[in-house]
Amino acid sequence: MAIERTLSIIKPDAVAKNVIGQIYTRFENAGLKIVASRMAQLSRAEAEGFYAVHRERPFFKDLVDFMVSGPVMIQVLEGENAIAKNRELMGATDPKKADKGTIRADFADSIDANAVHGSDGADTAKVEIAYFFPALNVYSR
Ligand code: PPS
Repeated sequence: MAIERTLSIIKPDAVAKNVIGQIYTRFENAGLKIVASRMAQLSRAEAEGFYAVHRERPFFKDLVDFMVSGPVMIQVLEGENAIAKNRELMGATDPKKADKGTIRADFADSIDANAVHGSDGADTAKVEIAYFFPALNVYSR
């Protein structure tokens, strides 16, 4: 199994619910290590840059408005199959469709306020980790 790194964001809704610790416990119990983390209040420019790939989507403005609505907790998770494992822990984008016991099923309220972000593939993970943690050497993995 490959040791991977992935970017995770605990979004403003989950930070406001005071469940950072509960979400971190899920990462740790699944064997994922938190190898970098920081809390941030994203600027519009940072959020727009991060989600630039979705710029033409109808929900882009709502997504950016939401991501700047309060602090987020950003972390790099490391472990075997970290990218897929994190997405499994997160559950489906729409919490109504997320499997029982996933982070989104337990903590998210809607498709807009859906508690967490996780990189969706190896290339995306490299770009996203470098975006928020430019000093972290992601290429060694
Ligand atoms: S796709 O087509 O698979 O790339 O799209 P998806 O991963 O489902 O969604 C991309 C990100 O946009 C968020 N999203 C939304 N935000 C607001 N409103 C609506 N309707 C909506 N639909 C999707 C979704 O949560 C994804 O954000 P991240 O942070 O990547 O989870």
